[in-house]
Formats: sequence, structure tokens, C-alpha cells
Amino acid sequence: MTAKTCGLLRHVSNESLNDQITTALLRWGSSELRDLPWRRTNNAWCVFVSEVMLQQTSVARVLPKYEAFIERFPTPQSLAEASLGDALALWHGLGYPRRCRNLQASAQMIHAHHGGEVPDTLEAMLALPGVGAYTARAVLSFAYRQDVAVVDTNVARIIARMTGAPLKARELQERADELLPMGLSWEWNQVMMDFGARVCVARSPKCSQCVVQDICVWRGGPDSPDPAPATAGTSKPQSRFEGSDRQARGRAMKAAIKNELSHADVVEAMQLEHDPARAQRLIESLLSDGLLSHDKGLFTLP
Ligand code: ADE
Repeated sequence: MTAKTCGLLRHVSNESLNDQITTALLRWGSSELRDLPWRRTNNAWCVFVSEVMLQQTSVARVLPKYEAFIERFPTPQSLAEASLGDALALWHGLGYPRRCRNLQASAQMIHAHHGGEVPDTLEAMLALPGVGAYTARAVLSFAYRQDVAVVDTNVARIIARMTGAPLKARELQERADELLPMGLSWEWNQVMMDFGARVCVARSPKCSQCVVQDICVWRGGPDSPDPAPATAGTSKPQSRFEGSDRQARGRAMKAAIKNELSHADVVEAMQLEHDPARAQRLIESLLSDGLLSHDKGLFTLP
């Protein structure tokens, strides 16, 4: 980030500008923050599960799955000791099932090495399978109330637009750290996420409703390109689901929840009778990902 490309840089050392931003957004959040089950708990396991689910799945789809998953697996130990197939059966519908496999591997590490408590340091969180900078910091902020700034796709978009320039991951984290109001990490991070999900949205942002429109360098200007898409951490649209490998793999796993399956059953469940080579490739990928098991000619969840 250079002074030329970054309008906001002029103000970086200006604490009053940061204060204006945080005050305006926290005020917005005081009436607009959504009431969500993972916002009603400090339980670090519940927060961790919710954040893994929310990594690639919308709030609306996560809500019912989260409740059922926590009811069945209320502690890391309960998931650590379950069969992966039981967990995958509950996960079905959220997509990206490797997250569930990683979550169980994390639960096993937490049970074996952390006395059953979700770690409260960045280093230990980052050492868990499938946990990156976002999820690690989300747990530290939302469960342990530590003063850390989380940068997810929504936060990345807001900061890039306010700054008026695409930013690299390290610059985004630095800017988020500068903005973080000490002692209010939980509130601030949740507000940023909701503001990005509801006002500073990816397509057709609601700039006229924006409480920081006077400070925002981009301001949704039709003539200036949106800096968000080129920003690190700003998600690209998910690839098309209809007809995808993800869809076919999901169909195979769904069928395996209910029954043991022959090879032909799996191919039929995937609706790939016309393309045996693709079917075989996908079956092999499910087996090597540890999301399907094969024993005595029959396929099951692991
Ligand atoms: N997406 C990721 N984390 C979230 C949270 N805590 N609340 C709402 N959406 C989220």
C-alpha cells in the first residue's frame, strides 16, 4: 500500500478518524446486529463449530445444522469419539465435507493435547487441522474476548472500500488491527461481519444507507472500480453447483448415510451411469479424502 494508492493512509495516524469509524459502526450494530445462537454463547467449542460451518456456508443454511450438531456433539470429546460417518451425516447439506473431517481431527487433538478445552492462543489454534487465520482469531475474539481483529471476506471488503485500494492479506490485517477498539473486540468483529453481509455487500452495496459513507474513499462511485474484488481474502463467487463434482460427491455421500452401497449404487446415486470414468474418479477422490469407506465390495460413510 502506498500513499498514492491509499487515500485513507493520510489518516492512518489519525486516531480521531478511526474513532469516527468505530463509533459509527458500533452504533449501527447496537440496533442492527442479528441475534444468532453462536452470539449467545461464550462456549469456545460452540463458537469453533459455528465458525467452521460459516467458513463457506450462509447463515441461513448453518442455523438448523448448527443446533443439531451441537446437540449431538456438545463437547470436543463427544465428536472425537464418534464415528466420522455420524458427524458427516449431520453435516450433510452444509457442503464442503472436508471441513467436518478436519473438525473431528481438531476435536481429537483438543481432547488428546489440550485437556478437552479449545485452545486460547493463536499459535495453538493455527496448529489445528483446517484452522486458518480467520477461524483462529474468531475463536479468540468471540469465545475468549481477546483483543484481536478478525478478517473474513466481509471485513476485507469493507476495509478495501474504505481505504479505496485493493490490499494484500498482511495490509488488511494491519488495518483491521489499527481499527479494533480495545475491550470491544467481540462487538466490533461481529458488527463488521454483519455490516459487510447486509450493507457493504459484494454486489449492489447499499451506499446510501452506509453510516461511514462520508469517510469511505470508494463510496460506491460508478466511475471508480470497486477495490474489493482484487483484495486478498475477498471471496470469489463459489463455482457453479449444478452438474459439479461437488454435487455428485454430495449425492454419493447422501446415499451412503442411509445404506451400504454397491459400486453400481454409488454410480447411480451420483447420476453418472453415462460417464463411468468420471464416476470412478469421483469415487476414488472420496475414498482418498477419507469421506467414503470401502470394505468387502460395499461403500459406507467412514
Ligand atoms: N460469518 C462468520 N462468522 C460469523 C458470525 N459470527 N456471525 C455471522 N456470520 C458469520
